[in-house]
Amino acid sequence: MLARRLLSNQGIGAALKQAAAGALHPVKVISTSAVVSAPEQATVGTGKHKEPSLKKVQIYRWDPAKGEKPYMKEYTVDTNACGPMMLDVLIKIKNEQDQSLTFRRSCREGICGSCAMNINGGNTLACLCKVDPNPADVARISPLPHMFVVKDLVVDMTNFYNQYKSIEPWLKTKKAPKDNKEHFQTKGDRDRLDGLYECILCACCSTSCPSYWWNPEKFLGPAALIQSYRWIADTRDDFTMERVEALVDPFKLYRCHTIMNCARTCPKGLSPGKAISKIKKLVAGFPVENSGRSAP
Ligand code: SF4
Ligand code: SF4
Ligand code: FES
Repeated sequence: MLARRLLSNQGIGAALKQAAAGALHPVKVISTSAVVSAPEQATVGTGKHKEPSLKKVQIYRWDPAKGEKPYMKEYTVDTNACGPMMLDVLIKIKNEQDQSLTFRRSCREGICGSCAMNINGGNTLACLCKVDPNPADVARISPLPHMFVVKDLVVDMTNFYNQYKSIEPWLKTKKAPKDNKEHFQTKGDRDRLDGLYECILCACCSTSCPSYWWNPEKFLGPAALIQSYRWIADTRDDFTMERVEALVDPFKLYRCHTIMNCARTCPKGLSPGKAISKIKKLVAGFPVENSGRSAP
């Protein structure tokens, strides 16, 4: 098998400690031959030339085609000739030092979710993660933990997207809208979706969740569950109870033990753990034999 599961290079124990570390939009995988456009180079046109400030960056490298073991490769970057974010550093390295470095990115603004990776022990979006200019601080960048690596910083998101698909993330109604055009909702009903709809499916939360690490196929994980609650909470949707019933299962929902790594790591400031608690409250009204909970 080409892919291999990443235990964050430090093994499970270290990965547990770093767990505090959080698109269906088109995503560009920056591969061996891609050349990034000039505006993404970041001398960021001040017109002034500063003294170089050299910073070391260690990046996880693994190319299945080479048959080598994964390793950390160190690069040195002048942060005074680079944009302020870790994604700028990666792009600069790729443009100027090593075109074989492979990672995903698209929007560069924290919208597409494609540049999620583990930076200095925490899952985050590279395009929202500021470079620490301190030259003594060596940055470490690895793929999202406990995911199968495709190459370098690119992980296989197939299981993650299948789980998202399983929650049927679209409006489901039983009747046509009044004017046959649009399902309206009140401002208050719309407000119920705040803190939910902003999820960009970056997978930072799911891949920082110990429960998801142990049961990635059976536990839906915080990302799919916050998305599920986004539709459960939508007053225009006519399948609320069916959606809740579909989650009634010892694994899909109840592997969440409220550890809250998901909320700590989410780069959009969301709290999937809170959404999961709300689903659990809805399920609590179900008979025990149908609820996926243990009988007392
Ligand atoms: S809840 Fe936050 S961390 Fe999780 S997928 Fe959505 S945006 Fe990413
Ligand atoms: S609150 Fe639940 S979903 Fe979030 S990290 Fe903890 S166990 Fe995982
Ligand atoms: S590149 Fe789109 S979120 Fe970072």
